[in-house]
Amino acid sequence: MGKHQKELAKAQSAINEVKQTVSQDDWRLCYHVTPEANWMNDPNGFCMWNGEYHLFYQHHPYTPEWGPMHWAHVKSKDLVHWERMPIALAPSEWYDKDGCFSGSAIEKDEKLYLFYTGNQWTGPNQDTDLKQVQCIAISEDGIHFEKIKENPVILEVPEGDIHPFHFRDPKVWKKGDVYYCVLGSQTKNRIGQALLYRSSDLFDWEFVNVLAKGQGNQGYMWECPDLFQLDDKALLVMSPQGVHPEGDNYHNLHQSVAVIGHLNEESGKFTSEQWQTLDHGFDYYAPQTLIDDQGRRIVIAWMAMWESEMPEQKREWAGAMTIPRILSMEKEKLKIEPIPELASLRYDPIMYQEITVDQDRQLDGINGDCLEMKVTIAAKEANKFGLNLRMNESGTEYTTLAYDVAEEKILLDRSHSGKGPGGIRKAPLALQNGQLQLHLFIDRSSVEIFMQNGEMVMSARIYPGQGSTGIEFFSDTAIEIVQLEKWSLKQSV
Ligand code: FRU
Repeated sequence: MGKHQKELAKAQSAINEVKQTVSQDDWRLCYHVTPEANWMNDPNGFCMWNGEYHLFYQHHPYTPEWGPMHWAHVKSKDLVHWERMPIALAPSEWYDKDGCFSGSAIEKDEKLYLFYTGNQWTGPNQDTDLKQVQCIAISEDGIHFEKIKENPVILEVPEGDIHPFHFRDPKVWKKGDVYYCVLGSQTKNRIGQALLYRSSDLFDWEFVNVLAKGQGNQGYMWECPDLFQLDDKALLVMSPQGVHPEGDNYHNLHQSVAVIGHLNEESGKFTSEQWQTLDHGFDYYAPQTLIDDQGRRIVIAWMAMWESEMPEQKREWAGAMTIPRILSMEKEKLKIEPIPELASLRYDPIMYQEITVDQDRQLDGINGDCLEMKVTIAAKEANKFGLNLRMNESGTEYTTLAYDVAEEKILLDRSHSGKGPGGIRKAPLALQNGQLQLHLFIDRSSVEIFMQNGEMVMSARIYPGQGSTGIEFFSDTAIEIVQLEKWSLKQSV
């Protein structure tokens, strides 16, 4: 057995030992990808290969904390039901001895190529004592991956105003006969930027240019860049570290944004027109996209945040993915919607129409901890209205989604959600014809709320008690629930 195989076998048996116990935990999510046990962060290698969706993720198989990174692997035919595959990558060579960091996947000659960053610590300080190089592992069967002997394929950072250490997260795509790769970087005096490379064969890479660079409050390091065309715009999706709060925006430790603009492939320059926050909740980082065989641009992200308290760590696991979401452009704005395939999990539908709510109100059958709900609310004369989710019987535990008509803002409050971090996130949102349209996905320890038909989304991990399954509507004066549809959702992961 080679070195890599040995490390993979060791990692897999560490997971096999604890996965049974972990699977009993009542915070385990039903239809979101989570690690079988121990630690997960960024989605990696999100792609379609041989007609199936593949998703890898940053994984530490030995403890529920971040550590030497491996790539775990799941696959799916419909983006809903996921099958666990053996761990794909483990640190084993000099160039990735301290971690196989984030990256992407691409098909070439029917083989599946993984691009990842080999991380090496060169001293005790994880911010300054590191060396990052870009590497390839190839699979013929989509299960076993071999690191190539030419690794690393990019060994040094290019010349110019480019920081020598923070150089990671390759995202590779093909246009015509040319392969492109975008990499996360920072300048020597720590301004976030992204780098563009080009190759004709995936092995030999030529640096094209600094694709884009931060201006003002746009962060000191751009992690996990992804670049693609959506209609007539180019989108640079990435995760800037160190953006400071501005009004209601940027209150998480790090951000994930879509920079909308135009790309000149020849010069390798991206001109930015606007920044759009991808998720206005608490837990959303390192999104990665793919384009599927239906031509849809689908994004998935780590539903967590660095340095945030994760109560499930005490239960030997940590981290989850969001549900897959579809990105599209509508009138120069990015629209984000859940994939329709999730409807295959629905059972026990319940519908209500034209219900007036003028005091705290629960509706028969509208409750649960693994559900989907679509609701349209007419604000009428109300100034403040909303819902309490995952509420306990005594009304002391709940997660609030509230709309403020005068301020034209939506607010998500997890101060009373149960265990774990609290906090409030707000975002500007206009009513449409006096109505608020919500599409909620609740899972055992998460909420994802899509608003106004994809205009905005907020995600949060929450850690309520098992019995906290109530949903209550509230309002300061009468509102109308114009239409409500709710389904329980089956387990799919
Ligand atoms: C983003 C990130 C990446 C890095 C990986 C390491 O969350 O910091 O930049 O490759 O996580 O796990």
